[in-house]
Amino acid sequence: MQKIAMLGSGFIGRFYADSIHGQRSRDRVVAIYARSEANAKKFAEDYRCSFWATDMEEVIAHPEVTMVCVALPNNLHEAAVMLCVKHKKAVVCTKPLGRTAEEALRMMQAVEEAGVFGGYLEDLCYTPKFLKALASVKEGALGRILWAKSRETHPGPHSNWFWDKEQAGGGCILDLGCHCIEIARNFIGKDVKPVEVMCWAATQVKPIDAEDHAIALVKYENGAIGQLEVSWTFRGGMDLRDEVMGTEGTIWINNFLRTGFEMYTSGSGGEYVAEKAESNTGWLFPVGDEVNDLGYNHMFTDMFNAYEEGAVPAETFYDGYVVNAVIDAAYRSAQTKQWEPVVLPVWRGQEGVSQKTTLVEYDEHYYLIKEEVTHDGRHKIILKDKQSQQIIERDL
Ligand SMILES: NC(=O)c1ccc[n+]([C@@H]2O[C@H](COP(=O)([O-])OP(=O)(O)OC[C@H]3O[C@@H](n4cnc5c(N)ncnc54)[C@H](O)[C@@H]3O)[C@@H](O)[C@H]2O)c1
Repeated sequence: MQKIAMLGSGFIGRFYADSIHGQRSRDRVVAIYARSEANAKKFAEDYRCSFWATDMEEVIAHPEVTMVCVALPNNLHEAAVMLCVKHKKAVVCTKPLGRTAEEALRMMQAVEEAGVFGGYLEDLCYTPKFLKALASVKEGALGRILWAKSRETHPGPHSNWFWDKEQAGGGCILDLGCHCIEIARNFIGKDVKPVEVMCWAATQVKPIDAEDHAIALVKYENGAIGQLEVSWTFRGGMDLRDEVMGTEGTIWINNFLRTGFEMYTSGSGGEYVAEKAESNTGWLFPVGDEVNDLGYNHMFTDMFNAYEEGAVPAETFYDGYVVNAVIDAAYRSAQTKQWEPVVLPVWRGQEGVSQKTTLVEYDEHYYLIKEEVTHDGRHKIILKDKQSQQIIERDL
């Protein structure tokens, strides 16, 4: 059983607490830190926490607390993690781990040197659909992964600090791209090095310094390509979709909008439909169990099990740091309009992986390029002559 101190009583702190207290869970949020007394008291009342304070260190150091959950604005993650290290408390931190890879690396090194458990709360790598898709990819159902695309777009975040570049550390690339990068990285293989990034970013709509729309390509050392599409200006709710393409197959996942639950209402019911939904009348696309469908349940189960068993969770501070390094390269690329290298002073995966090509043997003279039955009933094959390199076609 874990006794958790929640740092932050806002949007994600409440989603996390709903997940941790969900169903018949034995884990409890026992302490809450918030800036204002009113928010701390309200959260403590809502989640029956035995302790609340407006002093972060007091909450972290509380003797009843076995694990700390950082659910604070991005500029406060590092200070919160360092306090956990000081008090030797296991810590799980929301995304993005840092505002930059430099911050994330300091956090990673601090927990590792102190021997403190550090889990990265990347919920979208724990959705039921993602977990099933990843298992299929790992079993080889898609063959060699060539391309993994992830999209997270919505009409923009719900609190002022997100829109302030200094506190948030960036715009939608940092806020939403962190999910997309880690999703693609899981499918391509976490031990495959992300080497360079090409990014387009713009502030198309909102009166802010950071970007509100971006697209980026992340090149991996084995030749695979990751793609992210993020926006704070998308209209119509929250669009969370992934696509994976391999030599033997394809996966399309829709995690949130249009997942098979459609409802019409004239507007006489409640106001809340789903995260970032823009309307509560007309045809709506609610979500069955947001806490589960967004991955929070599986994520906390993995974190708590790993901590209790002395194991490593699927998402660690190291993963958070790699993601931050990819994001840093994306920001540089958006400025220079060039492919920018991913700078990873610490890298624990494979080195020097070469790009594979898949040649399908047809017979001793030819490689097979393509086989197809056409609409006029012909069974065609397209072959490449191994010696002359000539490409020919034949009817079977
Ligand atoms: N899917 C996800 O994993 C997900 C979703 C949303 C947010 N987040 C992350 O969670 C973190 C918090 O985001 P949120 O949506 O809960 O924001 P929020 O604004 O709803 O809540 C933030 C909390 O921190 C407190 N806070 C704000 N400024 C503070 C300050 N200067 N000092 C102390 N406390 C302060 C607020 O009072 C509030 O309790 C961010 O890092 C964000 O990226 C993750």
